[in-house]
Amino acid sequence: MALGIFGQLVPLPVIAFIFIWLIPMPSEIAIGVKLFHKVGAVRHALHAAKVGYDGVYAAGIEEGGHPLDDDVTTMVLTPRMKESLSIPVVAVGGIANGRNLAAALVLGADGVMMASRFMATKECEIHDNIKQELVKRQEQDTALICKSIHLQGRALRNETVECVLETEARGGGLEEIIPLISGEKCRNAWQTGDVDAAPMMVGQSIGLIHSVPTCAELLETMMAEAEERLQAVNARIING
Ligand SMILES: Cc1cc2nc3c(=O)[nH]c(=O)nc-3n(C[C@H](O)[C@H](O)[C@H](O)COP(=O)(O)O)c2cc1C
Repeated sequence: MALGIFGQLVPLPVIAFIFIWLIPMPSEIAIGVKLFHKVGAVRHALHAAKVGYDGVYAAGIEEGGHPLDDDVTTMVLTPRMKESLSIPVVAVGGIANGRNLAAALVLGADGVMMASRFMATKECEIHDNIKQELVKRQEQDTALICKSIHLQGRALRNETVECVLETEARGGGLEEIIPLISGEKCRNAWQTGDVDAAPMMVGQSIGLIHSVPTCAELLETMMAEAEERLQAVNARIING
């Protein structure tokens, strides 16, 4: 596990790319790891390709965490990236089940990345209250916060998020907002299970979370559902 900007506990593979700056990164890097950069705009993706990244995560506005404030959806961003780049494109944002996986592949994605969905899995080391809250909540239950301080984030609507939104609406600045979103508050909330105590950075895909499976169960179900959807759509198109 690792700490993100908001000091939250998230799986290391999810967070690892976030702090890699856009500097030349040759693939021949000694340890042989493929480097992907998270981007929310084609212009950033083109730069990532130019400086040597192996691929990009095309992250739409639906995503939890920190979407770029261009506010473009995964539905549009994925094919735009694909038509503009020759390096692999991984679709990110709003993906939580096999239907989403099938859709992303049809849009041209070489793979998908999910974060919010993995928060509600047995292996995730957050408090069970929060996992159950994610199961209860719907797709409209997130909000974009901190746009006013150029740190846009999508979080679960809760008491703290409403407070941040009110503070931003009346022109409150960094000095008022930062204490509300501090890493320490967030870490404590994830660990104690107090769902109102801090912004929980999750995306609109929470509307698609209906259970708390193991990661293996989640991925097996997703793969089966994607295959079933792709076959059904294929049959519909071929048979008319
Ligand atoms: C708990 C959590 C913390 C996150 N923290 C960050 C972060 O610090 N910086 C960032 O760029 N993205 C962050 N993200 C975004 C993810 O890395 C990922 O791009 C996004 O959540 C994918 O969309 P999804 O949640 O709809 O699957 C975070 C996501 C979650 C769920």
